[in-house]
Amino acid sequence: MAEANPQLAALKGRRILVALSGGIACYKIASLVSTVAQVGADVTVMMTEAATRFVTPLTFQTLSGRPVYTSMWQAEENFDAQHIALARGCDLVILAPATANMLAKISHGICDDLVSTVICALPRETPVLIAPAMNTEMWNNPITQKNVAELRDTLNYQFIGPDEGWQACRTSGAGRMSEADDIVAAAASLLE
Ligand SMILES: Cc1cc2nc3c(=O)[nH]c(=O)nc-3n(C[C@H](O)[C@H](O)[C@H](O)COP(=O)(O)O)c2cc1C
Repeated sequence: MAEANPQLAALKGRRILVALSGGIACYKIASLVSTVAQVGADVTVMMTEAATRFVTPLTFQTLSGRPVYTSMWQAEENFDAQHIALARGCDLVILAPATANMLAKISHGICDDLVSTVICALPRETPVLIAPAMNTEMWNNPITQKNVAELRDTLNYQFIGPDEGWQACRTSGAGRMSEADDIVAAAASLLE
């Protein structure tokens, strides 16, 4: 049981923002959100438009018991600028799955959707944990690797994975998203 796992105690009562970008691994984040909710964290989900094509916001709304944020333009809980309120109000951001596109955007300061804008607006001390997920060629693309290095070195963002293994494109290789439980454990250790 997640709530009885002492390794996850650091998440209890913390405000966790889970950001999904549009990869096939979105379905695994349902389990992540459920675990984080079970340990007593206050979990809020935001999704890119592409992510909503893989799993519906309703799934995350139900598992988190909270509104799911998908747009900068539609106010959900308060009427401040949505991206600023979300960026200010969290102890940790988990970006999973992180697409090649989203890594490129956030490493270049591009803010053209809610997820990239919130990440750009985060206070510098807010930890960000990124779980990339993509096809092996996309992961090995030197541009993707350059973007990852930039996010690590300039912004001190933390990465978990990707792992090697079976991929949705029916090949095996690097780029498979780390398992949800491993991402949750890494998130807890960042808040200890
Ligand atoms: C079936 C399908 C699966 C995809 N899986 C991935 C993936 O795992 N990783 C990735 O980087 N892009 C993947 N893409 C491409 C992204 O969805 C696409 O680059 C999109 O623009 C990402 O938008 P976002 O970063 O705003 O969510 C996939 C696309 C499709 C149609």
